[in-house]
Amino acid sequence: MLRTQVAIVGAGPSGLLLSQLLQLHGVDNIVLERQTSDYVASRIRAGVLESGTVDLLVKADVGARMLSERLVHEGFALGFAGRDFRVDLKRLTGDVVSVYGQTEVTKDLLAARVVAKGHLIFEATQVALEGLDGAHPTVRYTQGGKTREIACDFVAGCDGYHGVCRQSVPAAALQTFERIYPFGWLGILADVPPAAHELVYSNHERGFALCSMRSTTRSRYYVQCGLDEKLEAWPDSRFWDELRMRLPAAVAETVVTGPSIEKSIAPLRSFVVEPLKVGRLFLVGDAAHIVPPTGAKGLNLAAADVRVLYHALVEHYRTGSTEFIDRYSERALRRIWKAVRFSWWFTSLMHKFSDDPFNHRLQLAELDYLTKSKAAVTSLAENYVGLPFERS
Ligand code: FAD
Ligand code: DHB
Repeated sequence: MLRTQVAIVGAGPSGLLLSQLLQLHGVDNIVLERQTSDYVASRIRAGVLESGTVDLLVKADVGARMLSERLVHEGFALGFAGRDFRVDLKRLTGDVVSVYGQTEVTKDLLAARVVAKGHLIFEATQVALEGLDGAHPTVRYTQGGKTREIACDFVAGCDGYHGVCRQSVPAAALQTFERIYPFGWLGILADVPPAAHELVYSNHERGFALCSMRSTTRSRYYVQCGLDEKLEAWPDSRFWDELRMRLPAAVAETVVTGPSIEKSIAPLRSFVVEPLKVGRLFLVGDAAHIVPPTGAKGLNLAAADVRVLYHALVEHYRTGSTEFIDRYSERALRRIWKAVRFSWWFTSLMHKFSDDPFNHRLQLAELDYLTKSKAAVTSLAENYVGLPFERS
């Protein structure tokens, strides 16, 4: 039987970052991941990092490549009614965001875990948690046909929305909150220069569109689509035509098209589970909450959970006190609910929910208000760059 202090399930950004920070602070851990390392390193997801996330990655000693390759964005644009309006993040908040893909963050974390000789177990299937209520939990898994066990003090459930950890908790011990949106995002990645230097979020009668990027030569674009859409119905030419129709003319003209290197559809949901600590299990990142991608909070929120949890665990092993680990759920949830609120609000403002023109007129009025009211646009900017971390 293997033995460690913290067994971490999932080698996504939450699990890898937690593993790295714990090891740097002398807390022993083992990471169990269902997929191969190559699969984990090639998943294409988020792209915008808050400064708090950048700081945490630097603190975790995985910031060097990010700091040299990221694109620092001091603002973004809102497109609506044929015009575009720049939200000046730097002027309104003093803060900026960094464009650096989750794929790159994951590669940096994986590389750092290898250098630090971290114990990572890939292709671990049939992960099962036992004894979470007692002092000595165990995690069972199968690898290469052999079943093995890890004895630990705590389990960190960093295994995403579909993972096993949340499902291992009796339903009566958790309360779930959920909102499913009646649409998804169809996204493509293409090696073409971005349409604009900054991101453009566009509200249009045909539906939402977003111009994002991964670098000065790689663009990421999204259009709102129906939940029953099939990728086969979206050849690149149809995607580019639909995208351009939904953007302000000045932006549409600058879109450079090219073959897609990835294309996928993601449904949108808001989901939170409470509490985040059950016995000796902590739920972290997407295992605990999902936000719709509008506003790019998912990955940042995962990093914010890790920040609270690694502090709490380090403090516990340093002093023996359980004060911080007992407060993990309450502390993380305060930030989570604010991000859930912001992502829901920004999604509601920018997407087409129905053919009812009343709803669209209300959205246009609110967007117009944002362009006139410093208070309103500052609230948007503050949430977009990431709210300050609370001390207690
Ligand atoms: P995950 O990244 O989901 O990692 C969980 C890990 O656990 C995975 O490696 C998985 O293989 C592993 N795992 C699962 N089950 C088991 C098991 N039983 N045993 C062992 N291992 C297991 N956020 C944004 O901010 N902006 C975006 O543009 C954006 N786009 C997204 C697009 C898609 C398609 C998706 C799904 C998410 C997107 N997100 C986005 C959200 C963001 O990617 C997530 O918030 C982030 O990945 C959360 O990290 P995590 O480590 O908590 O979970
Ligand atoms: C991206 C995704 C988002 O949800 C967002 O708000 C900004 C950027 C992206 O994938 O690049």
